[in-house]
Amino acid sequence: MRLTPNHITVIKVLVHLVSLSFAANLVNLVLSGRFGADPVDGITHYTGLAALNTLAITMLISPIARFSKNGLLVRCRRLIGLYAFFWATLHMLTFFALDLTFNFSLLWTEILSRPYLTFGAISWLILFALTITSTAKIQRRMGAKWQQLHNLVYVALIIAPVHFYWSSKSELIEPSIYILLALTLLAIRWKTLKRIVVRPVFKRT
Ligand code: HEM
Repeated sequence: MRLTPNHITVIKVLVHLVSLSFAANLVNLVLSGRFGADPVDGITHYTGLAALNTLAITMLISPIARFSKNGLLVRCRRLIGLYAFFWATLHMLTFFALDLTFNFSLLWTEILSRPYLTFGAISWLILFALTITSTAKIQRRMGAKWQQLHNLVYVALIIAPVHFYWSSKSELIEPSIYILLALTLLAIRWKTLKRIVVRPVFKRT
């Protein structure tokens, strides 16, 4: 099936509806007490997984568009990417507000002293940089540098599930599946990655 601009509008509306219903479900889980008396762990888990899943879906758009020969599908990528940042920010703020009670210096100490948090913070910073430079106007203004910056999404894609793996105390199967998924998404882009990583290295030598 060949997608038209009208289909893209419908997909974007669906993306909003699905994302907002997940946000409403989170509020409902907290208010109904289903996360227990101390909901911080539940919120951290929910928002962390939502960020990871949304990031993975964002990275699936281009391969699906290519394989189904529906180039227009990439027009949905920015919106889904913005939701990945939304969930990642909610996740980070849960830790900052509810675990650290807005103590900024403690946030720095924690991020610098716990490697799994360093990885989480780096991937959040990458998503932040990609979000604030995601408009067409900034893309035009940055020229070739825009693509170089946006290639950092591959770094976020791999270190976010490593952050998940590292944060897990016992259950390692779920984070391992996310690392495998990220490696698969990177393998699909092998040619692009070779161009980004291998060529500049050889140019220097
Ligand atoms: C500054 C940024 C971040 C901070 C401070 C942070 C903090 C945390 C903390 C405190 C935990 C819980 C560890 C525990 O159970 O003791 C966690 C888990 C997790 N984080 Fe992050 N994180 C950040 C960024 C991210 C990003 C960008 C993603 C995804 C794109 C992410 C995905 C996850 C996932 C999936 C988990 C596991 C949730 C669970 O099973 O409980 N985090 N993070």
